[in-house]
Amino acid sequence: MDWGMKNRISRILKPETGKTVMLAVDHGYFQGPTTGLKNVGKTIAPLLPYADALMLTRGILRTQVPAETDIPIILRMSGGSSVLFDDLSDEEIQVTVEEAIRLNASAITCSAFVGGANQRSTLTGLAKLVNEGERYGIPVLAVTAVGKDMVRDSRYLGLASRICAELGAHMVKTYYCEGFKKVTSSVPVPVVIAGGKKTPEKDALIKARAAIDEGAVGVDMGRNIFQSDSPVGMIKAVRAIVHEGVSVDEAYKIYQGEKRSKAAKSRKKK
Ligand code: R5P
Repeated sequence: MDWGMKNRISRILKPETGKTVMLAVDHGYFQGPTTGLKNVGKTIAPLLPYADALMLTRGILRTQVPAETDIPIILRMSGGSSVLFDDLSDEEIQVTVEEAIRLNASAITCSAFVGGANQRSTLTGLAKLVNEGERYGIPVLAVTAVGKDMVRDSRYLGLASRICAELGAHMVKTYYCEGFKKVTSSVPVPVVIAGGKKTPEKDALIKARAAIDEGAVGVDMGRNIFQSDSPVGMIKAVRAIVHEGVSVDEAYKIYQGEKRSKAAKSRKKK
């Protein structure tokens, strides 16, 4: 691995712990104005100090993130479908690597729909992105997207994640599942988990703790942070799990503490 590639990866996987808290706010690329992301700039401003990297599209990066912001960018390169269309796998690479370089991306990312109608084109898109990434020293994060009719179990996620790694992805983002150790132990590159749909805060923390215990190097979490009743509390709690190894109960106290102190501040203002 050359210096540039290693350097970019180390901006995301923090050298002190080898782990990462990625904040995912790319949902609008197929969902439009997702709950909590109507005004992305406003949503992410208080979260940025606690995120190790920001995953988003070029449109949101250009318009919502001040260029002076010091955070590694993971740029979504694929798109082309929407929630109005039955087959979400109908997407392709839409951003050039030259633009990713101009936007100073630390990593580039796309979804791979293993077993879906567009398996071949999305995997070929991933492989081409890896070719480009290798040329310029930019790591590729592959996202294992799961079709509606597929089961999120260790057999499927292990297969999809391994295929992404075999095609050259430098990091893989997948979902947590029962028997997650089977997934991480057969993938030879760092694995992070998506948070998935919004769940009660404690459940999201349990999932993050279990994922780390079973071999993930971190999270790429969105809705369970920005849709929480205390987004800052949640990202601080997740961060403590990922980087400090705290228990679920300790993390939950961090979330509750932040929520309480914000409520107290807003009472004072009134
Ligand atoms: C989905 O395709 C997007 O890439 C999201 O970034 C991803 O699902 C992670 O966000 P969440 O934690 O909300 O699932």
